[in-house]
Amino acid sequence: MSKRFYITTAIDYVNGEPHLGHAYEKIITDVIARAHVAMGEEVFFLTGLDEHGQKVEQTAVRAGKPTQQFCDELAATWQAFAKKLGLINADFVRTTSEQHKRVVQTVLSRLNDAGQFERRHHKGWYSTKEETFLTDKDRNEDGTWDAKWGEVIELEEDNFYFFLGKHQQWLIDHIEANPDFVQPDYRRNEVLGFLKNNDLADLCSSRPKERLSWGIPFPFDENYVTYVWFDALTNYISIPAAHGDSCVLDGLGLKAADFDKGAEGLSLWPADVHVIGKDILRFHTVYWPIMLKAMGLPLPKQVLVHGWWQKAGEKMSKTTGNVVEPIAVIDEWGLDAFRFYVVKELDIGPDGNWTDDGFASRYSAELANGLGNLVNRSLKMLGRYRDGKVPARNDELAKEVEAAVAETVEHLKSAKLQAGLQTIWRLIDRANQYVDQTAPFKLAKDPEQSSRLDEVLYNLAETVRGLAVLLWPYLPDASTKIYRQLGLGGEPNRLSLANWGGLTEGHQIGEPEPLFPRKDLAKKD
Ligand code: MSP
Repeated sequence: MSKRFYITTAIDYVNGEPHLGHAYEKIITDVIARAHVAMGEEVFFLTGLDEHGQKVEQTAVRAGKPTQQFCDELAATWQAFAKKLGLINADFVRTTSEQHKRVVQTVLSRLNDAGQFERRHHKGWYSTKEETFLTDKDRNEDGTWDAKWGEVIELEEDNFYFFLGKHQQWLIDHIEANPDFVQPDYRRNEVLGFLKNNDLADLCSSRPKERLSWGIPFPFDENYVTYVWFDALTNYISIPAAHGDSCVLDGLGLKAADFDKGAEGLSLWPADVHVIGKDILRFHTVYWPIMLKAMGLPLPKQVLVHGWWQKAGEKMSKTTGNVVEPIAVIDEWGLDAFRFYVVKELDIGPDGNWTDDGFASRYSAELANGLGNLVNRSLKMLGRYRDGKVPARNDELAKEVEAAVAETVEHLKSAKLQAGLQTIWRLIDRANQYVDQTAPFKLAKDPEQSSRLDEVLYNLAETVRGLAVLLWPYLPDASTKIYRQLGLGGEPNRLSLANWGGLTEGHQIGEPEPLFPRKDLAKKD
């Protein structure tokens, strides 16, 4: 079976509410996944939940529920959220599932057999909030602990340590030799700076059960559970194993028959892209590659790092009420409007700033007046002047559309999603300008201009069709609606459909309907 394009998001902590940051990460991943579908590839998009660890356990206790039941209830909310965002994820991982646990335990046993762990006594400072040991380097300049660590307590205990130090040099070499491995470049430089200027301390990979019971038991010592990050990162290979990926199964000595869907025999690993936020860079570009190398598995091809959203220039916070509620925005404005705003507003990399005014003005200028108006007036004129029948082919805009298609495809290939939308919107502006310049409503009044009117109407309808195809990865719903209004069946989910000349003479288009109804902005204050 040929290898699929395998793309993942980070897995979210189950005990929080889905917010804008989670939505953003899933949407950009979905756009990249759909872009590869549109390029004709087979795609496997994975997202899901990180369900173990102290925070989850404590929140469940506070909610007065058994921890597994608490997770199950929240998992339903998160799965509904993925649906609400229109994701084409092929699976949804939960780290409390049996199949995931089996893979984590196998990984631990194999690494232990290979002598990669050492049991050690350690006395030190521990952040309960981040569930990690701290060193003096983590202190503020005045010796205090930053609020981000929460309560810091002194702990003395035995744990299993995973050797990291001996991996430092090959990892530096790998990152230097593969510029695409960590993107954007400034994140790559950040990791390289960290690796070159610090000696990697071994990773504490266990937690004593008496202190934390909500975790995957250590297979070779029942008094311990697995450190939550060791468990969480493994999701990227546990799901491939569960779908019968031979690279992971053979690498770990597992059998396809051990898993429900093992017989599918999908070929997924190595991942093509792990999409993550900037705060979890080190876990994905230092610990995870080292874990994989120690298991003898190939490394992912790319870790793509996005920035963080703020709202109105400030950190989002439930307590101050400064939050964006993705579901409420989608209910009010529609899913495509939400997907459009987050991708057009923010390139993958820097931090972003959501403003309600910015959202409303992009909606009105770019969606309602830009795309919506172009589609609506082009198809309405075709209806009014030609009974909705496509005139003979004419290539006046062909070169410009072809250039925009080629440029968008290049951007999609390199996950330059914002640049892709900018190219598409330049074409929309150009087509709207073409309407103004050619003035078909005037041509329609002059019988001698009838063939000129045919030309203009063809160019507009065919440009609109090309736009529907280009928009599919970004705005799947609007894209499919445009296709319907053009009287075309199926989904415009292949970029090859954007080739000029798809509309044939005499084709009957459907009913034009507004794609992005204008909002009464005055009412919103
Ligand atoms: N469970 C870990 C990830 C384990 S991956 C093996 C985790 N979960 S999280 O729920 O805190 O974050 C999930 C993702 O959301 C991360 O990539 C994080 O960067 C992203 N975001 C969280 N808040 C964000 C913003 N305000 N803006 C953009 N993304 C943000 O970390």
